[in-house]
Amino acid sequence: MQTADTIKGVKELTRHWKKSGRTVGFVPTMGFLHEGHLSLIKASIKENDHTVVSIFVNPIQFANSEDFASYPKDFGADEALCKSAGVDLIFYPAADEIYPPGFSTYVRMEGLTAELCGKSRPTHFQGVCTVVSKLLNIVAPDKAYFGQKDAQQLAVISRMALDLDMDTQIIGCPTIREADGLAKSSRNAYLSSKERQAAVVISKAVFGGERMVAQGERNAAAVLTTMRAIIESEPLAKIDYIEAVDAVTIEKIETLCGRVLVAVAVFVGETRLIDNFIASCEG
Ligand code: PAF
Repeated sequence: MQTADTIKGVKELTRHWKKSGRTVGFVPTMGFLHEGHLSLIKASIKENDHTVVSIFVNPIQFANSEDFASYPKDFGADEALCKSAGVDLIFYPAADEIYPPGFSTYVRMEGLTAELCGKSRPTHFQGVCTVVSKLLNIVAPDKAYFGQKDAQQLAVISRMALDLDMDTQIIGCPTIREADGLAKSSRNAYLSSKERQAAVVISKAVFGGERMVAQGERNAAAVLTTMRAIIESEPLAKIDYIEAVDAVTIEKIETLCGRVLVAVAVFVGETRLIDNFIASCEG
């Protein structure tokens, strides 16, 4: 496994692979890797000749009030995980490699970023779209892998790849969960043991809502009310949003019909966690 900290180093290697007719899979991450990332890495290794993982805590997707400075990091552990998984290249750039002095170009998406996390974090998706489009230009992968836990991010990046005529195929992979149901997230590391116990209420609500839809409930308000009640039963949990939207356009819906995304963001103490389920509903 190689590690590169320059754009030039990554381009040289990936262009060499591509010229030799080999396919490249890419897993962009912010590090502090867990089994969720590992599942993306495994999917990439299975489907491509070479796999690149980027580790970069992207400053421009965090608002000033958010956790950029305290975002968990452990490059040694990330490196070991990538090596044992069979990753070929880690891209580990410094911030000024990605955003050199004078950097002035941003990718901003309308529509899909108006609801859910886009509402609570108004500058977040501009930061995500900008860094992901840069990373896709640098690595030029055949396929790039994103977790379904960040369902709005996946929808936004899929739309961006389509709108900007990118050659990379965007692949969504299922959410990986702890034994008690909590979705794996690097931010789970922030939880105290009391908060960790309380956080399970999020996946309980997600599974409860999913069950109602599977049993035929098509009224979004009924599903959201039940989910809200489950989360509100936990005093340490505070709902940021809980919404039902079209899974592709991220527009709010009242009747669950077609491919729908039911997504939640919940503060447990100071830590904001997200989760969701996607269902295909006949009208
Ligand atoms: O999902 C993440 O970890 C980040 O948003 C991403 C896609 C690596 C961009 O910084």
